[in-house]
Amino acid sequence: MCRRGAEGRQRDPREERKEETIFQPGASLVKYSPARQIELVLMPKVTELHVNGKTLGVDADSERSLLSVLRDDLDLTGAKYGCGEGQCGACTVLIEGTPTHSCLTQVGRVGQKKIITIEGLEQHGRLHPLQEAFLEIGAMQCAYCTAGMVMSGVALLRRTSNPSREDIVRSMEGNICRCGTYPRIIAAIQRAAATSGGAK
Ligand code: FES
Repeated sequence: MCRRGAEGRQRDPREERKEETIFQPGASLVKYSPARQIELVLMPKVTELHVNGKTLGVDADSERSLLSVLRDDLDLTGAKYGCGEGQCGACTVLIEGTPTHSCLTQVGRVGQKKIITIEGLEQHGRLHPLQEAFLEIGAMQCAYCTAGMVMSGVALLRRTSNPSREDIVRSMEGNICRCGTYPRIIAAIQRAAATSGGAK
């Protein structure tokens, strides 16, 4: 067995300083790379988001997902983590009115844009007409997908007050319900359109 080991080996000066991350709240993220012996200045931090009509302070690395910041930092847990790959729609929120997969959206790319989550739909103590319709029709089973479904449906009703069945199916393509409640989801959107003339 060779005994030449750690005690006989010259110490690599690059080992003196381990990889470390230095947080500078409100400014940048600096990371020391031992291999390259340089400090890497990463993306600036995000310090505020415009969510549900309020400006909320955060302290988040800009590379984090919007979903993570909403759920873990702001306690807005309506949007769900499903696939994490932009396939299921459980994480859907509205950004400037557009249904968006928050799991794939880096929070640093949101900037000043207005975010609406399921928590922001209720107005003056009243649920959104589409939320009411989901409840009346029972358009859920396990309900894991429901918040994302509602957000995509709300975006559709804002664009089109009286969507056809085909409009609904096409608009909801980015949202998956593993329980298969699609007929009731479509019926709920149709009911909301009929009762509210296109919900706000
Ligand atoms: Fe975002 Fe599935 S969790 S699309």
